[in-house]
Amino acid sequence: MIVLAACGGDEAANDPVEPAENYDPPAEKPADTEDEKASLEIFSWWTGAGEEEGLLALIDVFNQKHPEIEVINAAVAGGAGTNAKAVLVSRMQGGDPPSTFQVHGGAELNESWVAAGKMTPLNDFFDAEKLNDKFPQELIDLVSKDGQIYSVPVNIHRGNVLWYNQKVFDELNLKAPTTFDEFFKVADTLKENGITPLALGDKEAWSATHLYESVLLGHLGAAEYGKLWTGDLAFDDAKVKEATEIFAKMLEYVNEDHSARNWQDAAQLVADGEAAMNVMGDWAKGYFDGRGLKVGTDYGWAPTPNSGGMFVVITDTFGLPNEIDNPETVKEFLAVLASVEGQDAFNPKKGSIPARVDADVEKYDEYGKAAMEDFKTNDLGPSLAHGSAANEGFVTKVNDAMVMFVTQKNVDHFIEQLVAAAQEL
Ligand code: GAL
Repeated sequence: MIVLAACGGDEAANDPVEPAENYDPPAEKPADTEDEKASLEIFSWWTGAGEEEGLLALIDVFNQKHPEIEVINAAVAGGAGTNAKAVLVSRMQGGDPPSTFQVHGGAELNESWVAAGKMTPLNDFFDAEKLNDKFPQELIDLVSKDGQIYSVPVNIHRGNVLWYNQKVFDELNLKAPTTFDEFFKVADTLKENGITPLALGDKEAWSATHLYESVLLGHLGAAEYGKLWTGDLAFDDAKVKEATEIFAKMLEYVNEDHSARNWQDAAQLVADGEAAMNVMGDWAKGYFDGRGLKVGTDYGWAPTPNSGGMFVVITDTFGLPNEIDNPETVKEFLAVLASVEGQDAFNPKKGSIPARVDADVEKYDEYGKAAMEDFKTNDLGPSLAHGSAANEGFVTKVNDAMVMFVTQKNVDHFIEQLVAAAQEL
């Protein structure tokens, strides 16, 4: 089994991202008082098709159980938290934390907010709610530091998924590529037929980083990929260079307007059959389903090239910030989020599988069932683009280097930038 929480040792608090420039704190903060209705502010970046539906379904379960609590949905748009994280930094630094906020398990939680002493341990909560044996140990490890649990996982997303338009593939008699060679053959056929082979939306650089990490995983294999994050494999290793060359070649097959699109706009190209394939986490499934498409009929999926038997794990989690004055209200929400009912309301809409081991499998379609099976049997790996593999300082540097790489495709220069950034690991 591959270690997910690969990075450790860096005890220093790492400011995740620059604070947002134009953030004005709200005049009033939610508070638990006797004469005012208690309120709960849930901070996330779930505003798009699928993800918003999932969040609203979860809030709905909470509202039914706690009509006395007013829920404020404080979502900030921008995939993978592009804008939300900056707003969060401003709020946390300004002593105005939301009641609870979305944060990825792994380095993003542990090396920033936990290391900075901003989160309350939840071990007592896990004991009281009898949750300790309800989550896979790998997930508990991702949300723990020094034996303390700091957040509650609501889901497991898979990062290394290749989505494709089923009708386009059927018309051209194509099969989902399983290797890089097959990928390029399929891509050439698509190109000859006037269809953009690969949709990319890297208006926010993380989308390209997401594609790159899937190529690293496929070319290196799970064990070597894992070593990148522990410092046991250097970024100027020949294999990393080869993977970067494969990635550069893939970029020859993307839509021309990739830098003007975000991840949803890229998924839309596949949904509409203008492009045939897209590499994205399975929140893209939430997007496709949210648009009324059906897996197996309208769209298909496969592990990204060469990554069969491997599963890049991304877990969205929510915790309890220290400086809030409504911790009991937040715990009521975390209890719903941790429950089978809450997870089974959220995840089928979100495209993810439940973090709990005892959720109702029948609530999930063929994709969800396959992902649950794969999670149990595959080699697991952490995601760089989604904050579990490495600290935010490193992720930001890679994203910055990526912006230049996508246009210049200078492999040597990119590798130099990765090596320099790795000083932060
Ligand atoms: C990821 C997050 C997913 C999804 C995606 C796109 O970082 O874990 O839940 O929201 O970003 O925004």
